[in-house]
Amino acid sequence: MEYRCVDRGSKKCPCHLTTSGLCYTCSTLRTGECGCSTQWTGSCPYSEFSMNAGRPQPMPMLMPAEVVYQKNYSGKLTVVRLEVPAGFAQQCHRLGSYIMAQVMGYMVPLSVLHSSYAVEKRRFLIGPRPYIEVAVQPIGLKTMQLANPLSKFWNIQGPFYSGLQTAGRIDTSKPMLVIAKGTALAPFLNVARVLAGENPEKINLFIDDDKITSEFISDYVSKIGTRFNYINLSEDMETALAMLDMYDQIMFLASPYYTNQVIRKLRGNGKLVRSRVEAVQAIGKCLVVANHANMCCGLGICGSCSHTDKDGTTVKECKCMEGGIFQ
Ligand code: FES
Repeated sequence: MEYRCVDRGSKKCPCHLTTSGLCYTCSTLRTGECGCSTQWTGSCPYSEFSMNAGRPQPMPMLMPAEVVYQKNYSGKLTVVRLEVPAGFAQQCHRLGSYIMAQVMGYMVPLSVLHSSYAVEKRRFLIGPRPYIEVAVQPIGLKTMQLANPLSKFWNIQGPFYSGLQTAGRIDTSKPMLVIAKGTALAPFLNVARVLAGENPEKINLFIDDDKITSEFISDYVSKIGTRFNYINLSEDMETALAMLDMYDQIMFLASPYYTNQVIRKLRGNGKLVRSRVEAVQAIGKCLVVANHANMCCGLGICGSCSHTDKDGTTVKECKCMEGGIFQ
């Protein structure tokens, strides 16, 4: 199957995978033979690699970011605001963007909930300094440490853009069904205004408020102007599945347990494929799904997100994107 690397053509390309012959989007780097059609007009990882004297681009740097604000929502979730350079905050204002936060020597992927960069005002040094916000659910050692109010600086890496599959196919002029559970709502909220455009009514949003609070909803959801309803996926998944037929664009943000039920329903044959990349490729509609399950390094190194597809290709879901990035 054909796959597109989320970093192809970006300043991260060519990455360290090229030196091991593991760049699955460039067959020249992998096998020595070009597999691109003569019509291809995009960037060429092999040319970039050659022009860079046969070296990959440096690994993304860890950057210290000051925690300038924290809000705890009834112990279920903590929103952390990190002061970052304006360029970084601007790059985070993309659908599916996430950062890696280093804690206890491990990296934790966190979706960007909100980013503010207000370039115009900053030119005159007024207004808030650029920042991003992430939502942390303190459920394990790493997340409890991150949500600790005594953490004054984080080391972060990013942004990365593979937080959602099929995001690049979204057509903002068409209606969209959005179903989200808990903090998986974050990527939608980050760019909700862009998706809603001048007509927020075209988005039909259903929220499962498990592990988020009404205060969080009034702080982040009520402001975007999109109508929304509540749904309890663990009790009423049938209602969610029934709504899928009514839309050509669906954003479903929940754990793999629920996502797999959606994929099964839309594929119609009850079979599951091994990855979300293959699954969304085989569905006739634009189905945007969360890509966070098994994400660990985000760089294509650790292999925790990888699987072998039916053609024997190793697919790393932190790198492979269906439909590109939503611009
Ligand atoms: S998350 Fe490590 S290889 Fe994808």
